[in-house]
Amino acid sequence: MYPTKVERHLQRGAVTLAGHRAITRVGGHAVYVKGASPTPGDTSPKTSPQRERAAYLVSRMVGLDGLVPETVLSPGQTVSVQRFVRGKRPRFTLLHTPILELFDYIIANTDRHSDNWFVAERSKWGMWAIDNALSFRLGHKRAPPRYLVVPPSVAQQVGYLLTDNERIHRPLRPLLSLAERKALIKRLTHIWNRAHEQHLE
Ligand SMILES: Nc1ncnc2c1ncn2[C@@H]1O[C@H](COP(=O)(O)OP(=O)(O)O)[C@@H](O)[C@H]1O
Ligand SMILES: [Mg+2]
Repeated sequence: MYPTKVERHLQRGAVTLAGHRAITRVGGHAVYVKGASPTPGDTSPKTSPQRERAAYLVSRMVGLDGLVPETVLSPGQTVSVQRFVRGKRPRFTLLHTPILELFDYIIANTDRHSDNWFVAERSKWGMWAIDNALSFRLGHKRAPPRYLVVPPSVAQQVGYLLTDNERIHRPLRPLLSLAERKALIKRLTHIWNRAHEQHLE
């Protein structure tokens, strides 16, 4: 997957992080820099920057580009660097938009509360999905949403990815475990089947 112009800009800048969150500027872009959250007593490897990056890549892979702001890893891979975006805090918190439901199912996100997405009229999907740190984890399985609306463009992309699983494994191998990638493929297969049911109805 080719890096976009903004990604190349973001990758160029050297970021240093004092705490574990910072807003700074890189290559003319305001960015949100985020390290792994320190969880008291948790000694497992800190992989949330990798999950932020994986969520961004997957948004592009499934044809939802423009939903997650460009996100790269710092050279040391310890922090994620995400383009800083503007939007409004959503007022409705229980009812997500169908696109966000679909995306969060795909990435198995367990943390989409109203601070973790913005309503942004001028963005491609009318919103930004930020804070994708708690995604792709195993043992946090959710049943697929009952009403899963799959736009034809997404169905087509998912179908393309599933014709050769390497299209999924290759970009995500440095970011997610094999088991996490296999679970993602399962969810994408489910999306593909649902899309076909919708088409036949
Ligand atoms: N890319 C971004 N653009 C603009 N604001 C952001 C961005 N990422 C995070 N923020 C703001 O910072 C807040 C905290 O960031 P978040 O990634 O949600 O961290 P936490 O893991 O602490 O919840 C968000 O609720 C949002 O208001
Ligand atoms: Mg958050």
